[in-house]
Amino acid sequence: MGAEAIMSEHIAVTDTPEGIRLIRIDRPDKKNALTGAMYDAMRDALVKADASEVIGAIVFAGATGAFSAGNDLADFVAGTRKPFSDAPALQFIRQLARTRTPMIAAVDGIAVGIGTTLTLHCDLVYASPAARFRMPFVELGLVPEAASTYLLPRRVGLLKATEMLLLSRPFDADEALGLGLVNAVMPADLLLEHALAQGARLASLPRGAVQATRALIRGDQAAMEAALEAEAVAFEERLRAPEAQAAFAHFLGRAKPA
Ligand code: COA
Repeated sequence: MGAEAIMSEHIAVTDTPEGIRLIRIDRPDKKNALTGAMYDAMRDALVKADASEVIGAIVFAGATGAFSAGNDLADFVAGTRKPFSDAPALQFIRQLARTRTPMIAAVDGIAVGIGTTLTLHCDLVYASPAARFRMPFVELGLVPEAASTYLLPRRVGLLKATEMLLLSRPFDADEALGLGLVNAVMPADLLLEHALAQGARLASLPRGAVQATRALIRGDQAAMEAALEAEAVAFEERLRAPEAQAAFAHFLGRAKPA
């Protein structure tokens, strides 16, 4: 990483000799909940990976037992005072959707909210048996993000996507495997090694062919980004809604007695 890299104490970015950029989320005491500074550091790492001539794959990993508990809910509360269009979360999501370098996720433990929707943008996803996915946006008074309303129905079908997004139904590693949301389930101690090996393979292939094939597989980029932006408009409205504020306050232990 150059000296100009955006740093966060909870995001460790490491480049390997094989041309892999490892982005490790490292805030285990908060189950890897993501703050604005963490989103900024991850966005910067993606932008610079695309600009690099030596990085051929990106691997996202979390801490033991926590890939990510999603957006930091205290940040959601603080964020309602500013336009969502400037929010680091949205800037990260936009960059995630347009990153050209192939991306791999290694998911151990909980993957909530963006912890799950991030994986929909990854080209390969590996999970430990302890992986637990959940997108509780509606429960929180919000709407889904990261183009998940577009990507998920195309992966798992409309009815399964509705259960996951409208009912916030959790699913485990085996179900994710069955639904084609992960490539393989493997013991936690082999997970990162396997993801890095696949990253090394991707990084060793002709870069232009990898990026062009990836774009062809992914399909209609403009439609996916349009969904992402439509979600962002709805998300901003929802963030300010009393029901969302009440859900955040409840989690943060500040709910007033009834
Ligand atoms: N935002 C802020 N803090 C969070 C967080 C989040 N999204 N997720 C977890 N934390 C914090 C907890 O407040 C707790 O902090 P504390 O030790 O200072 O009290 C710490 O992380 C550990 O979480 P805890 O709830 O005790 O762990 P758990 O193993 O019992 O449960 C989760 C883990 C992920 C199921 C639970 O923390 C949870 O539901 N988090 C919220 C997930 C969420 O709604 N994310 C937003 C999606 S859009």
